[in-house]
Amino acid sequence: MTILVTGSAGRIGGRLVETLLARGARVRGFDLRPSGRAHAAYEEVVGAFADVEAAATATAGVATIFHLGAFMSWLAADQAKLFAANVEGTRVLLEAAGRAGARRFIFASSGEVYPENVPAYLPIDESHPLQPRSAYGLTKLIGEEMTRWAARSGLATTILRFSHTQEATELLDPDSFFSGPRFFLQPRIRQQEAFGAHAAVAALRAVDDGTPALVLARNARGRPFRMHITDARDMVSGLLAAHDSAATIGETYNLGATEPVDFEAALARMAEITGLPVRTVDLPGDGVWYETSNRKLREATGWAPAWPFARMLEDAADAWRARRRS
Ligand SMILES: NC(=O)c1ccc[n+]([C@@H]2O[C@H](COP(=O)([O-])OP(=O)(O)OC[C@H]3O[C@@H](n4cnc5c(N)ncnc54)[C@H](O)[C@@H]3O)[C@@H](O)[C@H]2O)c1
Repeated sequence: MTILVTGSAGRIGGRLVETLLARGARVRGFDLRPSGRAHAAYEEVVGAFADVEAAATATAGVATIFHLGAFMSWLAADQAKLFAANVEGTRVLLEAAGRAGARRFIFASSGEVYPENVPAYLPIDESHPLQPRSAYGLTKLIGEEMTRWAARSGLATTILRFSHTQEATELLDPDSFFSGPRFFLQPRIRQQEAFGAHAAVAALRAVDDGTPALVLARNARGRPFRMHITDARDMVSGLLAAHDSAATIGETYNLGATEPVDFEAALARMAEITGLPVRTVDLPGDGVWYETSNRKLREATGWAPAWPFARMLEDAADAWRARRRS
């Protein structure tokens, strides 16, 4: 039977498609964007999840669905688009899945359902209160609820709350969507300007002399940020471990790297690789400082991540050097 992967043109969905094809599966992708992939066992539907016809075409004859596609944005102006893609899109997809007789549904949720930046306790486990702060996190929580609702009608569901995830090659790319503003000063300034975060912009501008630099973000009391950054390869192995185990049906798990990344140590290593200076900035507020437990999934399935941050940085260094040569 065909396996449907939504978000097939994306970071994690694209890698999952490749891995499933390598395992000999027939795969269908479903994404707003064409993936450009050509493979005898692969086909794709290009369209929006909330488009009833596209969702019916995508789910026809499918037994298993990995619903990884979503819109990610933290801009206030994007709220309607977030709800259309992640809430209405998931509702329409679930309805189509029911009509098509799909049996298995694996949903990509997010750590933002907790929320990670103001945790009630650490490490965050699956019992932590669900109180999203971002509109994106809220759309993921509603997606979870719709998935649990579909499970009550007999669909075999697994919810995976994804850690922040990157391709290793994105980490030292100043133009990448997440890592650019996270680790490079000028992209961070542009991002905070777009958010209208005036105090952060002022703090960042104060250390900007106009030359390329890395940025070490700390909170208002000087505590460096700390969070999980998981390699897309580990997300794919975790997705497959969850899929392959009947024990995960009806369950919810955190999926991400075992250890969080300490930004002070990370930026020191990034400076060695790039030769760029590190500008340290104390940003307003409590900042980012959390740890999330992946123990439940490891114990249920035997899965373990294989690409800790230090290993990701080795690939990031190769990509940095290759970009400099080209
Ligand atoms: N990358 C992370 O840090 C992270 C963290 C937590 C959760 N997640 C979740 O993991 C999943 C995969 O993330 P990713 O990093 O691969 O993201 P990505 O942005 O690389 O891929 C998402 C894909 O979804 C597609 N898409 C968006 N809206 C759509 C719509 N309305 N209809 C059809 N396709 C649509 C996009 O075109 C894109 O190709 C998403 O559900 C995301 O919310 C990601």
